[in-house]
Amino acid sequence: MKPYYQSDTITLYHADCRDQLLDLPSHSVDLLLTDPPYGMAFEGKGEHAAPIRADGARQGVRVLRQALTAAAPALKLDAHAFLFCHWASWPDFYDAVSAHLRLKGALVWWKDRGGSGDCAGSFAPDYEVVLHAAGPKRRPLAGKRRGAVLAGFPPVPPRQRTHPTEKPVELLTHLAEKSCPQEGTVLDPFAGTGATLVAAVHLGRRAVGIELEERYCEVATRRVELALREGPQSAA
Ligand SMILES: C[S@@+](CC[C@H](N)C(=O)[O-])C[C@H]1O[C@@H](n2cnc3c(N)ncnc32)[C@H](O)[C@@H]1O
Repeated sequence: MKPYYQSDTITLYHADCRDQLLDLPSHSVDLLLTDPPYGMAFEGKGEHAAPIRADGARQGVRVLRQALTAAAPALKLDAHAFLFCHWASWPDFYDAVSAHLRLKGALVWWKDRGGSGDCAGSFAPDYEVVLHAAGPKRRPLAGKRRGAVLAGFPPVPPRQRTHPTEKPVELLTHLAEKSCPQEGTVLDPFAGTGATLVAAVHLGRRAVGIELEERYCEVATRRVELALREGPQSAA
């Protein structure tokens, strides 16, 4: 399929990743960095409130399983992978990922805020889980060893969000800098409005994104073009 957007380093497809991933060259991806639908029927609030595609209770994990099966041949043997998930879908995501990759651990993105629900009867859901997995061949992470709690990466303020579940570029940049080699390629099969692609631009890495909703592809394209004009930036 013809890309929706292409530059020297960034390619974005408007497609169902379960189809498009099959066309990626085998062993071409160094890092799978993605934020799949959590299977929580999330809609968000305010201006960008909208249901997330494939986010129905059982649908999310089914789509993830199918996407990982389609993506597996494209991953290098020493690839790393980070997948955002919700604590409630974590066990299903763990099973889906472990069918293809070695689980290395779970990181906690500590958001330091937020959360609705039973305010008096539960702890605030002020974090998200990020599964870390890797291929069969070991490749060390870059830099000094760090702890599994990712603090200091505040969520995008609701008014600035371009997607209901937008992730901060600085957090994705940090994960990609530790796990994707200088000349490497990052893959995000659930690209949303392109935060992972922008992180790749900031680091000077190549990236391939796939997104089902055209309106998100449009926004992702604008964000990537702006980031390319601004040029590489140092990671957080
Ligand atoms: C949790 S959001 C990702 C948001 C992204 N991290 C960001 O910061 O913009 C998941 C995205 O996956 C997309 N999606 C759902 N099913 C898909 C599929 N089969 N192929 C490609 N994209 C899909 C949804 O439209 C949604 O934008």
